[in-house]
Amino acid sequence: MKDMDFSFDTELLYKGDKVRGCDLIPEAAPLFLASAFDIAGDLDDVNATYEDKGYTYIRTRNPNRHMLADKITYLENGEESAVFSSGMGAIQTVLFTFLKAGDHLIAGDTLYGESIELVEIMAEYGIDYTFVDFSDAEAVKKAVRPNTKVIYGETASNPCVALADVEALAQIAHGCGAKLIIDNTFVTAYAVKCLDLGADIVINSLTKFINGHSDALLGSATGSKELMDKVLTRQSIFGTAGGTFSTWLVQRSMQTLGLRMTRQMENADKLARALEKDPHVIKVNYPTVDKYPQKELAARLFKNGICGAMLSFEMPSDRAKINEFMKRLNICHYAPTLGGVRTTMSHPATSSHRDLPDEMKKALGITEGLMRISVGIEKAEDLIADFTQALKAFD
Ligand SMILES: Cc1ncc(COP(=O)(O)O)c(C=O)c1O
Repeated sequence: MKDMDFSFDTELLYKGDKVRGCDLIPEAAPLFLASAFDIAGDLDDVNATYEDKGYTYIRTRNPNRHMLADKITYLENGEESAVFSSGMGAIQTVLFTFLKAGDHLIAGDTLYGESIELVEIMAEYGIDYTFVDFSDAEAVKKAVRPNTKVIYGETASNPCVALADVEALAQIAHGCGAKLIIDNTFVTAYAVKCLDLGADIVINSLTKFINGHSDALLGSATGSKELMDKVLTRQSIFGTAGGTFSTWLVQRSMQTLGLRMTRQMENADKLARALEKDPHVIKVNYPTVDKYPQKELAARLFKNGICGAMLSFEMPSDRAKINEFMKRLNICHYAPTLGGVRTTMSHPATSSHRDLPDEMKKALGITEGLMRISVGIEKAEDLIADFTQALKAFD
């Protein structure tokens, strides 16, 4: 790409295709499996190369990670990104970069299960925390303490798609000198650009929508150069950098991110509306359905009217019929992940949220009949027809 401005999807396709320090421009990204690079003979160059961000040792820097990082930085509208061994590797490294013993963390009470466990582990290192409902910005404000250093949440809750007002949270964080860190895995930058709304760092599990092909484990963090320099230094010490082959796979997958996300989000909208009309369905959790409770916030967050490809819906809590419904489905299948090109479902009450006390499950809307769907790229009409016939299990 030379000197014209093109649309976002076109630009994204070409971002990160240059290998730093290399004149070749291959049509497909090369794979740099080397764990070390010769720094060219002059001992003065050892440090020069390091400081110039050249390549010496794989844990510190690797050309594939840089290429993917450049694509993600463009996607998120940030200044710098880091690529991690997993989404959890990104979350752990970022939180431990900005928190130390004696600090206080405010975290969303519907975070991804392992993120909740991580916050609890951090307490063993002297980092105090408060879990708060992030769809209630006033409650977050009330939880602020003099030593609050980080506010950490997810754009949309799992599994009921309750939204966090990222702009309001950024104001609260910056009003008390804290950093706002948002995990945007569920909706992706195609629906919301969290840095534009004031977040300091945005995190993605690349394992999900951004890779989309269910064949790699990776994470990312993006923010300003100043903050990401700190994160990258910690990443090198913690050893949480992403593996080269997974990085290469995700880089390759990102070339079709625009096509995939557009289709997945359109499908999610169509499926949600069809489920809302189905007489066997009690409730649908997705921002475009009529009864969604946070319509005004959804309109502010999702400027293009597209809201990600995760939804959940509630059927009657009859396990035998739910099992029958699952058996009847031809396309959508059970899988403990999300974001792939093939539509998958999970049953929060017996998987991600099984250890929660019953009252908490009830408060969060997690009934026996609640099913979470990650919508893929199939033809929407096929998906709708398949769900419609499977729901007849409740007749
Ligand atoms: C919202 C969210 N954040 C983080 C993670 C962790 O990602 P990974 O499995 O890549 O470590 C997940 C995994 O499902 C997730 O759903």
